[in-house]
Amino acid sequence: SSVLILNGPNLNLLGTRELGVYGAQTLADVEALCHRSAAALGLEAECRQSNHEGHLVDWIQEAGAEQRAGRLIGVVLNAGAYSHTSIALHDAIKGARTRVVEVHISNVHAREAFRHHSYISPVAAGIVVGFGVEGYPLAIQGLRRLAEAGEP
Ligand code: DQA
Repeated sequence: SSVLILNGPNLNLLGTRELGVYGAQTLADVEALCHRSAAALGLEAECRQSNHEGHLVDWIQEAGAEQRAGRLIGVVLNAGAYSHTSIALHDAIKGARTRVVEVHISNVHAREAFRHHSYISPVAAGIVVGFGVEGYPLAIQGLRRLAEAGEP
């Protein structure tokens, strides 16, 4: 089975954007890391990025259906700034009953107050925050554990 890695707005700028906060690795590097760490667990990683909220909503809905068909264990979601604004993403995760692990590269709680609240967190199965890009492999591991235990 597979795992879907979704990156939201501005994460296509990784490696050039606020290097002190997000590090020097590019999105391509992060996606390669996801492919490697998924493969090590016998999983296939599919990686997508969009700056558009609606694309992320569509993909989360599709993922819910794929999960119920037994082809997908869930989604690793870094929704970027939409984490702090998007009721639509919250509703999509809830409505499609998609297993989601929320990832933030930076420790959002050590940053501006507007980053302390996430609409994703209450509907996420788990959250990985502040481990840099290593958060993605950690989230994949966490997803697999939950899936194997049959937990939502
Ligand atoms: C981020 C944190 C968000 O607050 C920010 O808007 C991002 C990246 C992170 O990975 O640390 O775009 O999700």
